[in-house]
Amino acid sequence: MPTVYLNGHYLPAEQACVSVMDRGFLFGDGVYEVIPAYGGRLFRLAHHLQRLQNSLDGIRLGNPLSDHAWQEILDEVLKRNRDRAGSDNDQSVYLQVTRGSAAKRDHLFPEEPVPAVFVFSNPIAKPDPQLATRGISAITLDDIRWQYCNIKAITLLPNVLLRQQAADHGAAEALLVRNGKVIEGSASNVFVVREGVIMTPPRGEQMLPGITRDLVLELAERHALPYDETDIEADSLHQADEIWVTSSTREIVPVTKLNDLAIGDGRPGPVWKSMIELYRDYKEAVRNGIRS
Ligand SMILES: Cc1ncc(COP(=O)(O)O)c(C=O)c1O
Repeated sequence: MPTVYLNGHYLPAEQACVSVMDRGFLFGDGVYEVIPAYGGRLFRLAHHLQRLQNSLDGIRLGNPLSDHAWQEILDEVLKRNRDRAGSDNDQSVYLQVTRGSAAKRDHLFPEEPVPAVFVFSNPIAKPDPQLATRGISAITLDDIRWQYCNIKAITLLPNVLLRQQAADHGAAEALLVRNGKVIEGSASNVFVVREGVIMTPPRGEQMLPGITRDLVLELAERHALPYDETDIEADSLHQADEIWVTSSTREIVPVTKLNDLAIGDGRPGPVWKSMIELYRDYKEAVRNGIRS
């Protein structure tokens, strides 16, 4: 039975209950993070906590915990679920902060909100080896989300519908298009490689600033791989040599088929192979306590 953290208590998941008046339940009024931990060590924690702070600022909710207190809780949840993780002890922690509950359902913020804090962890499955030979397929869809996608809000209904639409089409991800430009995936950021240059859309309110995205750019910079943060026209996607999607739990995944047509030669490309090696080296350095 997984152990979760809820509002100051560690308890079995099935005993963890929140009020039906919680604004997360009624309005989707909250934010979240998903943070991987390799060998029990949290990956890019400072970056995730900074993004959490930005999301909380974005919804005008005070951070209920200091960074130190967050780390203590996350470490404790990982520890208490150690026996559910495999021998590598790779887990991802999910944390959620809502604006708590009030006596009545009212769009207006409660005068003195008491945020609800919920944390749980899940074992991370080993990356599927078939990804390296086959990649995944994706489709493009209109981005139907709101205007503040830089906030990691729990209000994910558009993302849910888009991801399901992709799955119904037999695709593993939807690439979202707004005003003719590719923004990101339904649960990932997007990269395109053309003539050796790694390209990704620039940060902005329309997309989530992915922690994996930023690490890919950092690794490109450190290893002198050419990259560019630039708008990507949806119409140009089929001229790409490679397309990747990135996220904390899926790492860097090559998209080899888009809208039923092959990308490049239909197999994961050489730039992806170099980047995933750099990424995995970094991950091992975190596991061994050399990096954070
Ligand atoms: C909409 C969206 N964009 C991008 C990402 C990737 O972010 P990260 O690399 O921080 O996991 C996610 C992750 O869930 C996401 O939901």
